[in-house]
Amino acid sequence: MVFSSLLSNLGNVSFPNPLLLASGVVGNSFEELTYALKLGAGGVVTKSVGSRPRRGYPVPNVIKLELGVLNAVGLSNPGVDVFKVGLSKNRKNLQHMLVSIFGSRPQEYIRIIKKIDMLPFAGYELNLSCPHVKGVGIDVGHDLILVSEIVRQVRKNTNKLLVVKLSPNTDKLIEIAKEAEKSGADALTLINTVRAMDIDIVSHRPSLSNIYGGLSGPAIKYIALRCVYELFEEVNIPLIGCGGISKWDDAIQFFLVRSRLVEIGTAFVQDKTIFKKIAIGIDAYVEREGLKSYSELIGSAH
Ligand SMILES: Cc1cc2nc3c(=O)[nH]c(=O)nc-3n(C[C@H](O)[C@H](O)[C@H](O)COP(=O)(O)O)c2cc1C
Repeated sequence: MVFSSLLSNLGNVSFPNPLLLASGVVGNSFEELTYALKLGAGGVVTKSVGSRPRRGYPVPNVIKLELGVLNAVGLSNPGVDVFKVGLSKNRKNLQHMLVSIFGSRPQEYIRIIKKIDMLPFAGYELNLSCPHVKGVGIDVGHDLILVSEIVRQVRKNTNKLLVVKLSPNTDKLIEIAKEAEKSGADALTLINTVRAMDIDIVSHRPSLSNIYGGLSGPAIKYIALRCVYELFEEVNIPLIGCGGISKWDDAIQFFLVRSRLVEIGTAFVQDKTIFKKIAIGIDAYVEREGLKSYSELIGSAH
């Protein structure tokens, strides 16, 4: 189902709608990513891949809570060489796929890009924001010099769409966002999960094997909205809202604070029809508001 009111674009990539599957929630499977596209996602972001295979943390590493999900999967991934085989086999489904990559140094990002850049996927999302793995994610994304070097180096090595995913777990959000823009990012995704923990009252111990994890789902929507709103006047590149979106009106809120697209993670795991439901809801709202396209809503909360 394609709604003309929902046609969207980022850089020179066109999407049938502005609703993307967020990185990681369906694991490393290309089948699941392709399935999300069939179920109405306008695009998908892969689970973050590194230059080498990584096991991640032992179970319990994903816990369902009242208002969301707490995870410390630990960036488990098969490494870029195995990942590339999957990408190559799925060539016909790559047009609306962003590949999420992570690493601790610019060279690691370049190593990944040199191996896969020739394949016809839409672009990259740099994960500078995972809250629970030492030496990567937010550890890198909180360091202005590293952010600048990584984004610059990646920009030099690819012509594809370059999105940088930021964390709410910092008091330097605005500086980091500006640095990413100055260094060549085409768009920013906000936010990754919020660093959090849970305690088991039976064992008296932290519930996650890694103690700390990242919180996602409805509990973080208001933090994500605040982050997008804060960047409205600070950067000029498009923003992609992410965090706690589970209904069409959540998506509208993110458009109003100036998200061009949104990503949906936890809610998709719970309801496979979520992309269709949200698309129908936005289309009806756009018509009720007397508009032609959802894009007329972008930024009008300001
Ligand atoms: C189980 C799980 C795994 C995730 N893995 C990644 C990942 O590999 N890379 C990344 O950038 N974000 C990852 N995320 C974060 C999501 O992409 C998203 O930013 C976050 O869950 C907030 O969106 P949501 O509330 O719609 O889930 C993961 C989230 C979950 C729940």
